Order: sequence, then C-alpha cells, then structure tokens
Amino acid sequence: MLCWWERTCLKKSVICNDLKNCKDCTRYLQMKLQTEMANIPGEFPIEHRLDETKKDLQSYITLKQLDIQDFVVNGRSLVIESENSGNGKTTWAKKLLLKYMAKKVGRINTGYFLNLPIALAEAREAIQTKEILPYVKIFSTVRLLVIDEVASKKLSDFEEQWLLRMISEREKTPGLATIYTLNSTPNLKELLGKRLYSRIYTKSQKIKFVEGDKRGWSHQ
Ligand SMILES: Nc1ncnc2c1ncn2[C@@H]1O[C@H](COP(=O)(O)OP(=O)(O)OP(=O)(O)O)[C@@H](O)[C@H]1O
Ligand SMILES: [Mg+2]
Repeated sequence: MLCWWERTCLKKSVICNDLKNCKDCTRYLQMKLQTEMANIPGEFPIEHRLDETKKDLQSYITLKQLDIQDFVVNGRSLVIESENSGNGKTTWAKKLLLKYMAKKVGRINTGYFLNLPIALAEAREAIQTKEILPYVKIFSTVRLLVIDEVASKKLSDFEEQWLLRMISEREKTPGLATIYTLNSTPNLKELLGKRLYSRIYTKSQKIKFVEGDKRGWSHQ
C-alpha cells in the first residue's frame, strides 16, 4: 500500500502510485504524523491484510461491517478476545483504529494505541520518579482508545486502581469509545477485579476468535 487513500485519491492519476510524491500531500503527511502520535506500532502506511479464516469468518464480517464513526459517537466499547494467541486480535484493533483515524485526519485527539502491560510498567515507574505520563491526559480526551493485552496477568492493587481511575475519567465524557483486546480465561474477573471486569467486559460488545495461532501467515 502506498497511501491510505490510493484507491480514492482524486489526484491518483497525477501523483499517486509514486510514494515520493506523497511528501507533497498534506493529507498523507497528516495521517503519517497522527499515526506516529497515536503510538500505533508498525511502519507507515500501516497495512494489515488478514486471510479469511473459516471459523472466524462471521467475526471478521461483523468487525468489517462495524460502523466505526457511529461506534465512537455513541461512546461504545468492544472486546476482541480469544483463548488462543496470534489469531488477529491486536491486528483487528489496529485496523479499526486506523479506519477511524483515516476518516478524521487533520483533527486532534482522534485515536491512541496503548499496550497495557507497557503502560502499567511505566505507571509504576512514574510513581517513583513523580513523572506525569503523557497518556494520562490522552485517556480522558482521545475519541477512540485501543487498550491492548488486558488481563495478561493478575493486576496488583496499584495497577487495578490506576486503570480504574483512567477508565472512570474516560467515562465522564460522552462520545469516547474503547476497544480492548484480551486473552480470555475463566478467571478473568479475578484477574481484573470486579469493578474493572464490569467496566471493561460486562458492558462491552464482544467478539471472540476461535482460530489457532496465525503468526507467520502475515502479508505485511
Ligand atoms: N487471518 C490471518 N491471516 C494472516 N495473518 C494473520 C491472521 N491472523 C493473524 N495473523 C498474523 O499473525 C500475527 C499475530 O497477530 P496479532 O498480533 O493480531 O495476534 P493476537 O491475537 O493479538 O496475538 P496475542 O494473543 O499474542 O496478542 C500478525 O503478524 C498477523 O498479521
Ligand atoms: Mg495481541
């Protein structure tokens, strides 16, 4: 993929299909900058082509058909979960985030990608150094937030309180949406604590993948 809009760009015949010329395109440059600022892993322009899989076809269709603008305006939340690793949870969360950001290019506070284990480690460190983490503000303002790898382990009291405070801040403003990814486990409630379980899991729309590990299948 050369650019997000290569199929629809009005100037396609003149400047598209030549990545060098994208340097002159404001929309392209804004999207590049915004995906960097949104902390989305991967090289720009980030593209994820996933093969259709038999068992998760219906889930893929539901995610593809999800009206992401409506999802955000209504402040909804979605959990993409699976008992298996490497079957596209993070990839789908990124796809939805990028889809939304591509529609809102040029606006501020549209999207952010947060890997929870990393964020919690940074939060623990920030307590020692009395540093203020940039995403504390982002949490309460960004329109669409992806929180990746929720419940990868049991949260400590500090981690539970930190995340609870962040999510509660976010709940105060209407029109802020969140996508969570997690590895489902029967003791999810225990790992998260019941207040986070209620906010993250109970209230969200859920999409469950059942396919096995697809690492190495990638076209990226
Ligand atoms: N349907 C698919 N077709 C092709 N590649 C796929 C498919 N599903 C996943 N992959 C590839 O597998 C790798 C892992 O995907 P991803 O990180 O989204 O998995 P995950 O479910 O988040 O894994 P984990 O549970 O370990 O966090 C990526 O390189 C991704 O492109
Ligand atoms: Mg993942």
